[in-house]
This record gives sequence, structure tokens and C-alpha cells, in this order.
Amino acid sequence: MADVNPNLANMPKDYLFVDIGKRVLANKEKTKKEPFKLGIGDTTLSLVPTVVEAIVEKVKAFGGEGYSGYADNSFGDPNLRQALSEYYAKKFGVSIKPSEVFVNDGAKPATAQLPFLLNTRAVAVEDPAYPAYISANMMMGRKIVYLPCTKENGYKPDFPKEKVDIIYICRPNNPIGVIGERDWLTYMVKRAIETGTLIIYDVAYMAFIRTPGAVRSIYEIEDAWRCAIEVGSYSKWAGFTGVRLGWVIVPEALVVEDTKPGELNNLWGKYLNVYSNGPSKIVEAGGMAVLTEQGQKECGELVSYYLDTSDYLTGELRDMDIPVVGGYDSPFMFADLSQIISPDSWESFQWFLDVCNGVATPGVGFGPSGAGWLRFSALGKRDDAVAAMAALRANLPRL
Ligand code: MLT
Repeated sequence: MADVNPNLANMPKDYLFVDIGKRVLANKEKTKKEPFKLGIGDTTLSLVPTVVEAIVEKVKAFGGEGYSGYADNSFGDPNLRQALSEYYAKKFGVSIKPSEVFVNDGAKPATAQLPFLLNTRAVAVEDPAYPAYISANMMMGRKIVYLPCTKENGYKPDFPKEKVDIIYICRPNNPIGVIGERDWLTYMVKRAIETGTLIIYDVAYMAFIRTPGAVRSIYEIEDAWRCAIEVGSYSKWAGFTGVRLGWVIVPEALVVEDTKPGELNNLWGKYLNVYSNGPSKIVEAGGMAVLTEQGQKECGELVSYYLDTSDYLTGELRDMDIPVVGGYDSPFMFADLSQIISPDSWESFQWFLDVCNGVATPGVGFGPSGAGWLRFSALGKRDDAVAAMAALRANLPRL
């Protein structure tokens, strides 16, 4: 008789953001008040005009002579793959062939599915890290090795001491909001090559980097082609959280153990052709528009708005003497409430919800090293940020 996959059955009841959503809804039913949302990193500004126009045009075409069905393969529109390769060349000075770019429906599915490329037994994650990396790999029965990012190591964990097949790195980091410093990334790339470890580098937040000269793409690091896959997303900088579009770069030079150059690129294509029929052509039209000069200008305004909110939030938290990390090159900031509210971040989460009517994300939901912290997101509405900070200021216990 068939039985269920124990790895799936033994997972926590709800994925982090679903769990939070349920708690917030229960609170709302009790208080009848709409909470101030600084929790999940969901964008709140509407799509920019250039993108709307491109999507509407595509829909109109689909409603007439311009209709088309399945693509030839599941790798994404060749024009968009070409445009992304040009974007990388122009923005980061790195040369990526269009054939190395695969377009999909976002960074979350890509980071969850990429371990399928290898005979993966163990994966390392920064601790704290985006929970999908951890949950997806746990579901497949893989061992999770946590690499603590702490104040003491400057939020730059050491390379894993034990053998892992994959290491996930997200910079600017979700949830801490710090960038990947060049020296540290150079070291991680060198060790990955020496040990035959694949780096999955998540750049979902790279458009928020303001620090001059900071590394945006892992391929700005020498030799990263040999060990890293980069995953990008349109979600945050173009407001595509509800639209869905992202990309995966699998360099031809990438090799692990006994593979030949080009083999992993080929295998990822093979996987996609079986598991997907590619991204929506309608959404891809929007993705092309984002990369135009006008699209870049308009999306740049979205990013500036969120960064202003981020500056406001970090400024307020610091002014209340709450230790804060991140928030400058990222829409996320991590605040240490362990001494002020509780060492248990779920307790701090509940206190913020009950007392301030605010929603933040408990740090421990991203990994054990997040215990005692709360993550605040600047992707919400400015009014919510202002109201939540006023409530926090009015209710914060005096030490
Ligand atoms: C987050 O809040 O960590 C992300 O926005 C969630 C996601 O991208 O799935």
C-alpha cells in the first residue's frame, strides 16, 4: 500500500508566512482593526505604467491575430533571455549568454527546485535564511546545515566545515538586510570551487543596493561561473509579487565533481521541459518592459519609495534604542528585541500584534540564530509604517 512521504508529513503544520497570516487574521477578528503590515515582504505599490501598457498590448494581441500557444521549450521567451543578458552586461559588466538565462515564475520555485540538479544529500543555509530554502529541502529529506550569521562574525558565516552539496547565499540578505562583501564572497567562491560545492545565489533584492561599488551579481566575483547559479526575481523591484516572473542563470562553465562544462546548463533545461511549460507569455511582455529605459526609470521610483520607508523605519527603531541591522541596501531590517520584549521572537511578534496592532516577522522563523529578533519590511504602505512606529514608541517598555 502506498504511504505518504514522511518528510512532507513531518513538516511544521504551516509554512512561516501562512502561519503568520492565520495569527494575524485571528487577531483582526478579535479587534476588528486592520493591522499595520510590516510582515511578509509583499509589495504594495501598483505596477508601473510602462509595464501595464506592455501587458495590456499583449493581452489584446492574444485576443486577436497575435495569439500563440506553447513555446518551443520551457526556457522563456528568447527575446527576454537576450534582454536579461544585455541587462547584466550593462549593469554589472558581466557577460552572460542568453542560453545561460532561464526565465521562470519567480525566485521561490527556482531556489526550491534547483537542488534537483544534483544528487543532493545536505544543503547549507545562512542562519537566518529565507524559509523556502529550508522547507523545500526538508521536504526532500535533505540534511540542513545552518551557518550562523551573527554580530560576532559580522553576519558573514564561515564556509561549512562538513561536506554539503549546495550552499544558499542571499545578498542583500533576507531577513537581515545586509549585502555580500566582496572579500567574503571571494572567499566563499574559492572554497566552493575547492570543495565542488554548488552556490545558489539569490539576488531577489539586488535593486535595493545603494552602497557604491557593492557586489550585486555573484558573477562580479572572479571564477564564480565555475561554482554558482544565480536566481533573480521581478517581485520586489518591479512589483511582480502577484504577477510572477524571475530568472535563473546556469553558466556553461559551471561544473561539479564529474560533470563537463555545459552539462548542468543542459540538465536544468531538461528538468524545466518536463516540470513546466515556461512562464506566461503575457507576464513576459511585462518583464521586457521593465528592462527598457522607461521601465527602469519607473521601477527605480518604486525602489526609491520603499527605500525611503526603510530609512524611516530604521531611523525610528534606532531612535528608540532598538539594535537594528540592515535596511540600507534592502527593504528588510532585523531588530533585536531580545532584551526589550522577549528572547522568544514569537512572543515579541505577539506583543507587537496585541499591543501595537503591528505585524512583523519573528526572526526565529528564518532559523535558530534569528531567535529574539523581529524582521520589519519596508515594502508595505508608508502610513502603516508610520502608525506602527508611533504605536511602538508609545508602548515600548522603558528599561
Ligand atoms: C519574505 O517576506 O521573506 C518574502 O517576501 C516572501 C517571498 O518572497 O516569498
